[in-house]
Amino acid sequence: MALLPIVLVPDPVLRQVAKPVETITPELRRLMDDMLETMYEAPGIGLAANQVGRLERVIVMDCADKHEGEEPQPLQMVNPQIIASSQETNTYNEGCLSIPEGHGDVVRPAAVTLRYLDPDGQSCELEADGLLATCIQHEIDHLNGILFTDHLSKLKRDMVLKKAKKIARDRQAG
Ligand code: NI
Repeated sequence: MALLPIVLVPDPVLRQVAKPVETITPELRRLMDDMLETMYEAPGIGLAANQVGRLERVIVMDCADKHEGEEPQPLQMVNPQIIASSQETNTYNEGCLSIPEGHGDVVRPAAVTLRYLDPDGQSCELEADGLLATCIQHEIDHLNGILFTDHLSKLKRDMVLKKAKKIARDRQAG
């Protein structure tokens, strides 16, 4: 497995729409393994293909609460699709590995039902709530070129992105 460079704002790949995967190749499975490793190393709880410069509809996640001693719960999803969302909403203070030090409260449906393919091409259905539901929606947004900051007020969004872009520039300047 290998660590992949994480794309930061304002890279245009973060604004592109990823394409459905037609065939799950060994290369794609390796990509998903590398994405998981990259996410754990960051550390983060979710990563979408756009964030490593790829435009296939692939996301990885692990929302296990390590502080509570939960075992890792790695998820690798191909072509994830939300097929139902609750009326009830939840607010989480979200962050993103592509938006350094950016945080903001985002309101989303509290529960979602998801359909996706696992790395073996098996069709799966998952009902999620809590942090996992939020994470799934955040990652699928990425596949559609949407960032969590798009859900914030313009004032807050501009503030978060300005700071994040400065940090990204400073990091690249090394
Ligand atoms: Ni993100």
